Amino acid sequence: MITIAILTISDKCSKGEREDKSGQVISHIIKDLGKIKFYDIVPDEVDLIKHKLLQYCDYVDLIFTTGGTGLSPRDVTPEATKEVIQKEVPGIAEAMRVEGLKSTRQAILSRAIAGIRDKTLIINLPGSPKAVKECLEIIIDVIPHAIAKIKGDMSECAQA
Ligand code: MTE
Repeated sequence: MITIAILTISDKCSKGEREDKSGQVISHIIKDLGKIKFYDIVPDEVDLIKHKLLQYCDYVDLIFTTGGTGLSPRDVTPEATKEVIQKEVPGIAEAMRVEGLKSTRQAILSRAIAGIRDKTLIINLPGSPKAVKECLEIIIDVIPHAIAKIKGDMSECAQA
């Protein structure tokens, strides 16, 4: 059973000025992937994002963030994530951008990253519910294998 945390990063949602639809979309799409243990909303502040990510890493296999990956002055999710991870997994974010191009040219404006801290995989998703759905659909099938490898599964990956 994969354990999961969802962190919504949004100034407006954290103040209750906007409903967190993206967090709800993530919960719905991943309901068969594992068990959601934590769900929080924080404003776009590096220290607050880092604090939550570090907390979750002690308890879950997988963290999804949503929001704060773009180009606005307040968008700092990738910077906070970079300070927490020990290894980057660039292919996850590369795939989201390349495949996302099929839906919108603006997919390349997400600076999302993915990486590993200890035994936890952290994946940044963009902020809109539509982007969250599209990005998760691109990567969701590889997540169980990724988590197994992070936990030390030594079995051969190569398929004949
Ligand atoms: N990726 C997909 N697949 N679909 C989308 O609609 N929106 C883009 C991009 N990635 C989008 C997407 C837009 S408009 C922006 S500004 C960036 O994600 C960053 O979004 P964020 O700042 O809300 O994280």
